[in-house]
Amino acid sequence: MDIKFLTDVGFLLGSVGFVWGLKRLSSPDTARRGNMIASIGMGLAILSIIFAPLEQGDNNYAWVVAGLAVGAVIGYLMAIKVKMTAMPQMVSIFNGLGGACAVLIAMVELRHFYTGASAMSGGQVAISLTALFIGGIAFTGSMLAWFKLEDWLRDNALVLPRHSIFNMALLAVILVMGIYVFVLKIDAGIGLAAIFMLLALLYGVSFVVPIGGADMPVVISLLNSFSGLSAAAAGLIYGNNFMLVGGILVGASGTILTILMCEAMNRSLLNVLIGGFGGGGAASKGATGDQVVKEVTLNDAAIQLFYSKSVMIVPGYGLAVAQAQKVCKEIDDLLETNGVDVKYAIHPVAGRMPGHMNVLLAEADVPYPKLLDLEDANAALKSTDIVVVVGANDVVNPAALDDPGSPIYGMPVLQVWDAKNTIVLKRSMNPGYAGIQNPLFFMEKTHMLFGDAKATLSKLVSEIKNL
Ligand code: TAP
Repeated sequence: MDIKFLTDVGFLLGSVGFVWGLKRLSSPDTARRGNMIASIGMGLAILSIIFAPLEQGDNNYAWVVAGLAVGAVIGYLMAIKVKMTAMPQMVSIFNGLGGACAVLIAMVELRHFYTGASAMSGGQVAISLTALFIGGIAFTGSMLAWFKLEDWLRDNALVLPRHSIFNMALLAVILVMGIYVFVLKIDAGIGLAAIFMLLALLYGVSFVVPIGGADMPVVISLLNSFSGLSAAAAGLIYGNNFMLVGGILVGASGTILTILMCEAMNRSLLNVLIGGFGGGGAASKGATGDQVVKEVTLNDAAIQLFYSKSVMIVPGYGLAVAQAQKVCKEIDDLLETNGVDVKYAIHPVAGRMPGHMNVLLAEADVPYPKLLDLEDANAALKSTDIVVVVGANDVVNPAALDDPGSPIYGMPVLQVWDAKNTIVLKRSMNPGYAGIQNPLFFMEKTHMLFGDAKATLSKLVSEIKNL
């Protein structure tokens, strides 16, 4: 059979694998299989491109196999070692490398063009410049985001006075230069294209510099969509439909996720990009002076939970750090045996990445219908007996609703104070990600249960079993 036909079928099946896998990724029940299907699609496409007949040149199999081997080993080691809480960093690195690939592909092709080794239409020059621009931003922007997430760089480091004006001016220079290089075509030369690339790389850094705090997931998902679009542009350069389909899927899903996250935080994308989140909230009335918190004993907590009608568990970042999801499910099972209705309230930005809580709870076999989204949870909280906040903080902070000076003002939150009682599990009075105090802890109906979430929940299991 014709090898070209076979490789085209490989690309087609690879694209189907991507679309099918993505569909299954939309629910925690099917996500694992969806990931597997998409990986198989990717594998088919890699095999197809390796065996696709070349119009000119050499297949360079030694380089291809060496690259695959090095990439596979690094990818495998990173995937098995990465902690769930460090996934955003890993996604950032992947986004950045995707953008860097697009930059390299575009530079190589432009070099062939300028040295006369191959011809390029006006459209191909424009696409190559687009790949340089978007890929460049995705690369350096993601690398900077990674540094910020690892806390190797402070959120407000490198911010210039009037940074957004600098960014707009830089963007205007890049666009004018891109048009100039495009109009000059072959006369531009590789030197001008390289300067254009360097400016795009600089813009990637400058674009992410003013963004910080809780806005980081939004910018990561935006950079994810940029890396997809740059891959799609690279697909156009090579006329490879699989790269095009894959790139568009990543670009579109990244864009949708960006919009959903902005909605979850009640912020416009422009507002996120101009920056300003993560400050101390100087005008905030979050400072608590000498207010005191009330504590609850393990035994009291166990009795309250066991003899209530309904319990809402609010998981947060601390649950992920403590890896307390399985013991949480154990408590859920024990309470259910006594007829308690147990549900989970899932805030869209609880934890450190989109879907963080859903993934953890799916890992612990919590049935999906028990998970309520923000709106349903807030409606249900009004008739809930006891809320158990497990390592969550910002997502249950009433300052988001009633303190215009708070950095998280305007972010929709889980209104746990509407329930009859709230028990908060955390280790200390330290703040959460946004670095601000939480008035919930001082409310009349709130009781604190200090300690590591997993250790405390395990002790609660023993107490409940003894009842
Ligand atoms: P946070 O506000 O970060 O609060 C987590 C709390 O967990 C902390 O107050 C901490 O208090 C407690 N904790 C930490 N380790 C613990 C342990 N081992 N046992 C018990 N408690 C522990 O978490 P959240 O409410 O989930 O909110 C998420 C925040 O992250 C939001 O500001 C959000 O915007 C931001 N963010 C979200 C994402 C996405 S997409 N989900 C990505 C990046 C940032 P102690 O130290 O006192 O224990």
